[in-house]
Amino acid sequence: MITFTNGRALGYDDVGAGIPVLFLHGFPHNRSLWSPQLGALAAPARTICMDLRGFGESAAVAEEGPADDTAAGGHWGVDGYADDAAALLDELALDRVVVAGLSMGGYAALAFWRRHRGRVRALVLCDTRATADTDAARLARTEMQALAHERGSSAVANQMITGMVGRTTREKHPELVDELHRMMSLAPVAGVVGALDALRNRPDSTPTLPTIDVPTLIVVGDEDVLTPVTDARAMHLAVAGSRLEVIAGAGHVSNMERPAAFNHILSEFLVSLTAQ
Ligand code: MLT
Repeated sequence: MITFTNGRALGYDDVGAGIPVLFLHGFPHNRSLWSPQLGALAAPARTICMDLRGFGESAAVAEEGPADDTAAGGHWGVDGYADDAAALLDELALDRVVVAGLSMGGYAALAFWRRHRGRVRALVLCDTRATADTDAARLARTEMQALAHERGSSAVANQMITGMVGRTTREKHPELVDELHRMMSLAPVAGVVGALDALRNRPDSTPTLPTIDVPTLIVVGDEDVLTPVTDARAMHLAVAGSRLEVIAGAGHVSNMERPAAFNHILSEFLVSLTAQ
């Protein structure tokens, strides 16, 4: 489905009934990342996944209305993603939801917490980290922007695909690697370049973690090399009462690589919320 928020097209899916869960994908994915979860959780859940600005069916640039930061030069930040998510919830007349983000979606989920915490029933932080980019990582983002401009998103996908999945998936599920590569190659260049700005400029969310006072589930694949288990453990230690689940044989996209294990963990967490 497509809706318009602040003059900008926003693609999303909305499936099922029950506790509402908003899913935010990583870089450079689109909402189809969450296909294994959509309508497939054992817990009664309304699963909503949106394309972040500039990915999938969500436009990078507003078509109408006042000029915004994007129109001014393609710059937005994780705050822009968070505000788009809040606008979608307004559109769907949803007050509070479980916010689940993977990697860049996790950075956006933490921004959502900072900006719209009253709307967060619980957080699910998947294969992500709280810390900001190092200087070396910032430089790599700038180089990747040049690569995207010069050779397109498929060159970005080629560069990233090995780290995106775990060793087990590479060995046993090459079809999944192909599917993910296709998804990443389809990313519009404007979305990729804008997201790289958002990634490079995102703040350190470490000070945010102790402010989180809603139930929080942290999930990570034990073969995740982009946001490894050490990052997940650090978040777990800093978020009081959080739960950490490490999925064996999964890499950075643990929800796609081991969907049954991921869905089981998420369903249990959702059921625990409804019991509260
Ligand atoms: C992602 O999957 O969203 C990216 O790997 C995040 C990052 O590069 O920091």
